[in-house]
Amino acid sequence: MSDARQSSPSAARNREPILDVLRRVLGERARVLEIASGTGEHAMHMARALPGVSWCPSDPDASARASIEAWRAHETLSNVAPPLAIDVRDGDWNVAPPFDAIVAINMIHIAPWEATPALFAGAARLLGPDGIVFLYGPYKRGGKHTAPSNEAFEGWLKQRDPRFGVRDLGEVENAAQARGLRLREIAGMPADNLSLVFARA
Ligand SMILES: C[S@@+](CC[C@H](N)C(=O)[O-])C[C@H]1O[C@@H](n2cnc3c(N)ncnc32)[C@H](O)[C@@H]1O
Repeated sequence: MSDARQSSPSAARNREPILDVLRRVLGERARVLEIASGTGEHAMHMARALPGVSWCPSDPDASARASIEAWRAHETLSNVAPPLAIDVRDGDWNVAPPFDAIVAINMIHIAPWEATPALFAGAARLLGPDGIVFLYGPYKRGGKHTAPSNEAFEGWLKQRDPRFGVRDLGEVENAAQARGLRLREIAGMPADNLSLVFARA
């Protein structure tokens, strides 16, 4: 047992539905870069269920990286790499391409908007020709919330930092398009969240 291991109740709730989508959209043998891995629990869950997938977790926050490293030591999964310190807004993520997928779960609403175009800019640099970007989280449609729970959640986000907020799907799609990525799939998820899959246009 390591003190550094953190647990997120939402990760425990959403990891199985997210795995269902990833199992379908990732190839048998994919190299995945996860942005904003947080506690590291998604990395462990996906890597355990998808042994042919090589998973590189990352987070800009040192305590998150300590949690990921502690989970990694506990789970002894050979297909999870040590966590990288990546802030998507950095021009160089210091990681060798190509990746088959860039995964960001519950990240773009809890970071300033600049993180969204920066995420797609990094993906355009690092993805192979058939690579995908997978995003999971709540989204507005046509500028409007899709559920009262998402509206309440945005109130909580804005209290934390006024630059945070539930993003509009159309604006996210535009940011992807600016980097040559098109929205290939929208999958409805529990609790009024969406999984989005982007591929090179
Ligand atoms: C709500 S947590 C989500 C963690 C995990 N993906 C999950 O769903 O449990 C948001 C994460 O985004 C990370 N984050 C915030 N701004 C970021 C940025 N500019 N670049 C990369 N990660 C960022 C934070 O460090 C934090 O770990």
